[in-house]
Amino acid sequence: MHADNWAIKAKNMGFRSRAVFKLEEILKKIDSKKRYQNVLDIGSSPGGWSQYIIKKYDNVNVYAVDMLDMEPIDGVHFYKESIENIDNISEIKKLKGIFNLVISDIAPNLSGIRVIDEANIFELNSLTIKIANEYLSNDGTLVMKTFQNNMLKKLRKEMELFFKLVQTYKPAASKKQSGEIYLYGVK
Ligand SMILES: C[S@@+](CC[C@H](N)C(=O)[O-])C[C@H]1O[C@@H](n2cnc3c(N)ncnc32)[C@H](O)[C@@H]1O
Repeated sequence: MHADNWAIKAKNMGFRSRAVFKLEEILKKIDSKKRYQNVLDIGSSPGGWSQYIIKKYDNVNVYAVDMLDMEPIDGVHFYKESIENIDNISEIKKLKGIFNLVISDIAPNLSGIRVIDEANIFELNSLTIKIANEYLSNDGTLVMKTFQNNMLKKLRKEMELFFKLVQTYKPAASKKQSGEIYLYGVK
């Protein structure tokens, strides 16, 4: 499907972003029968992924964090904060170790200077891996966006230190030219 058609489909279904179809595809690929009770969505704005999780799973608790604002979503606990300070959010901190799923669609602002952008992406992804490792339960799942660049191998190795079954995946709904790719793994 053409990228614009994903956006139209998302709008017609009431989702805030076309990114929902990427998440849907990845979660199906991991295990379509798996159910999640506690989900942490980091880099959540405008909220498409949180909307998808609430709609898809019954009795799910969704905690979402972004440094930008996010319009409220029924059932989603949103905190406007950088993930660097996630431990300062007491409502989330007290759930350390009981999340079944951490989803991160975080992307840093790009400078256009390759080495700087690659280093920033790596740093944010490394932090995401650290957070996921601390906040997930045993057997919890991490889904994380990253980019195809010179640091990808190193990043994957870092994820393999804490997660088993680490895989990379490029969803059909992701624009071919974007360079984005998703890593997922089970703790
Ligand atoms: C591609 S968007 C996420 C889209 C979202 N998954 C959806 O479906 O609507 C990436 C988000 O990451 C956020 N972000 C980037 N760096 C961040 C940080 N250090 N802490 C929290 N959020 C961050 C941005 O503000 C942006 O809203």
